[in-house]
Amino acid sequence: MTSLHTPLCDLLEIEYPIVLAGMGSWGMATPPALVAAVSNAGGLGVLGCSNLAAKEVEERIREVRRLTDKPFGVDLLLPASLKQAPGSRAAVRQEIRDNHPEHWAFLEELHRRFNLPERPFQHDHVISAELIAQQIEVTLNERVPVFAAGLGDPAIVVPQAREIGMKVMGVCGSPRNAIRQVKAGVDAIVAQGTEGGGHTGQVASFALLPQVVDAAGDIPVLGAGGISDGRGVAAALALGAQGVWVGTAFLVADEGGLPDALKDQIVEASTGDMRISPYWTGKTIRAVNNEVAQAWADSGLPALPTPHQRVLMEDFKEAAMAAGRYEITMNAGGQGAGMITKRRPAAEIFAGLLDGTRETLDRMKGL
Ligand SMILES: Cc1cc2nc3c(=O)[nH]c(=O)nc-3n(C[C@H](O)[C@H](O)[C@H](O)COP(=O)(O)O)c2cc1C
Repeated sequence: MTSLHTPLCDLLEIEYPIVLAGMGSWGMATPPALVAAVSNAGGLGVLGCSNLAAKEVEERIREVRRLTDKPFGVDLLLPASLKQAPGSRAAVRQEIRDNHPEHWAFLEELHRRFNLPERPFQHDHVISAELIAQQIEVTLNERVPVFAAGLGDPAIVVPQAREIGMKVMGVCGSPRNAIRQVKAGVDAIVAQGTEGGGHTGQVASFALLPQVVDAAGDIPVLGAGGISDGRGVAAALALGAQGVWVGTAFLVADEGGLPDALKDQIVEASTGDMRISPYWTGKTIRAVNNEVAQAWADSGLPALPTPHQRVLMEDFKEAAMAAGRYEITMNAGGQGAGMITKRRPAAEIFAGLLDGTRETLDRMKGL
């Protein structure tokens, strides 16, 4: 049988070059049980911590350590645009009321239209420069083996990470951003094509990956975006990647924390249902299209920047989730949803990716 080992495996000290993508989603999409399951299967599990208070990040890291002694990672978002943003949710809401009354009024109108009682998001913390600094501090203090920066420039983390032997990965969605990751001095680069779930750019994986591989020089690259079975893994390897960063395929894992209704939406969705919208967070995000995303698009209002649009819509999402109205909440996922057919344990999803990769590589040897 074809072995599946690349230099990236040695760098990250894992058996197979398959990484569970960090997925924020208020801590639901990549809980410790899923992260540990992927690491225990021989890949690298990554905790998506972008929406979590520093204390929660710490607790989750410790929980992963209770469940596995294998390497794992923490993923945070480091958007540069947050420098001037207020540090509390209440202050952001006030700014929206004062400066963007038409957006505030449209949200109220959405509540009426969908007959949804108002219920502000329960957590007080909001993504801000201060929160990110605290999240980074915890991750460094806990000496997590791998740090991944989903958005933004990880250069601020690299020197401290290097001192404690932590590996740093940076996600990019364009060849230009790949160069920023190279300059930041990361240990590995994730090239995420537009097919991917969550925040995503405009360049498709087939065009992006070879360009990032070329820009990265000796730095290993992981392919991401639309890789939901072994054929995708093999294709990424063929394009020069040394591994893959897989999100959507693991969303439906039994160990994942999304409500079953949201997992079932992913199972049932076709590729065309997974659309990009700027209205959920203020940055382009791929998710299951629904009436709420459509209503925003029809409104003609521009999305506010993050964190304002994000805070606005987190209140709506929270209300929808609390009411069990999963059809009008946000459910991020990628175009690969079209090839996902059932909920399964993470180990089975992982084994499926591995087997499919080997079959594809073996088939190609015969060409
Ligand atoms: C539900 C969801 C949440 C995500 N949240 C984050 C995040 O917090 N940080 C991040 O770096 N990427 C995030 N992403 C993007 C993933 O890390 C990854 O790049 C993407 O899922 C890969 O494409 P795929 O979904 O086609 O596998 C998210 C993706 C999904 C589906």
